[in-house]
Amino acid sequence: MILLANSEAFPGIEESARRLQAKEDGLLSLIEGIKIVELDPRVRTVGYGGWPNVLGEMELDASVMDGNSLRTGAVGALKGYMHPVDVAYQVMQKLNHEILVGEGAAIFANEVNAVAGNNLIEDSKQVWWEKLALAMTDEEQKAFPNVPLAPLSNNATDPERVRDTTVFLSSDHQGKISAATSTSGWAWKYPGRLGDSPIIGAGSYADSRYGACACTHTGEMSIRCATAHSVVLYMKMGMSLNEAVYEAINDLTYLKDGYTEGVTIHAIDNKGNHKVVSLNCPGNITYWFWESGMDKPEERQAEVIMTK
Ligand code: GLY
Repeated sequence: MILLANSEAFPGIEESARRLQAKEDGLLSLIEGIKIVELDPRVRTVGYGGWPNVLGEMELDASVMDGNSLRTGAVGALKGYMHPVDVAYQVMQKLNHEILVGEGAAIFANEVNAVAGNNLIEDSKQVWWEKLALAMTDEEQKAFPNVPLAPLSNNATDPERVRDTTVFLSSDHQGKISAATSTSGWAWKYPGRLGDSPIIGAGSYADSRYGACACTHTGEMSIRCATAHSVVLYMKMGMSLNEAVYEAINDLTYLKDGYTEGVTIHAIDNKGNHKVVSLNCPGNITYWFWESGMDKPEERQAEVIMTK
């Protein structure tokens, strides 16, 4: 059994490891860990305490994938619910669809009695308005929100600058490989923007025959390269886990615009190996890892590849 998650997973990683150790289902173990992250206001890029869109509204994205059935569930731009990852799981369980967004996702969340609530904390609201005000004239501030939103969304400073997420991957006691993600996305994003976290194949993918992959930081990059599916496909085509991750990094370096700095690939294979590689981020990138036999998860350093 193995469990791999990014640095933002710290509030929930032990819960996921405990459940995997107790031989619970791998995907449910990930979801229970992520639900703890979603409620923790110290994690500024996920759920409660995350950053709002340019209108000051919380729009949350999440996904799950079962690597045995290749069934997925995802929600995008979900407003008013505390556990988008759980709503994503309910999409997989209760619908013939794989993804719901916006109003439809909220109607469905209500229908399955998902936990409703306000994810916007006072500090996020204050920082949002301070950063937006810096990017507007006095007249625009008075007219807000009846101003052009595109330049505002593009120019206001993102306090995270990395569009982070939480991503969890596991192989459970039966060898089932799973993936789950949750995020509030890019701070001050244009309303309706989806990152990679709810896009299966971009921000996450799991196939118990080969392995799983999930990405963090600017989702537009992993959407353009279909990074998560590429890593799993490269393994299917015969590459080792390390070769597959480096090939996906090569794909990302082909992009000549956008923000590849900090995009981080987290991946596992079906033999118990794991690999975490971050692109062009000089900072300290860490991740969480646990496997059978370890008392508790450990925080480790990601490999960093600098190409510029
Ligand atoms: N990777 C999270 C996002 O871009 O929304």
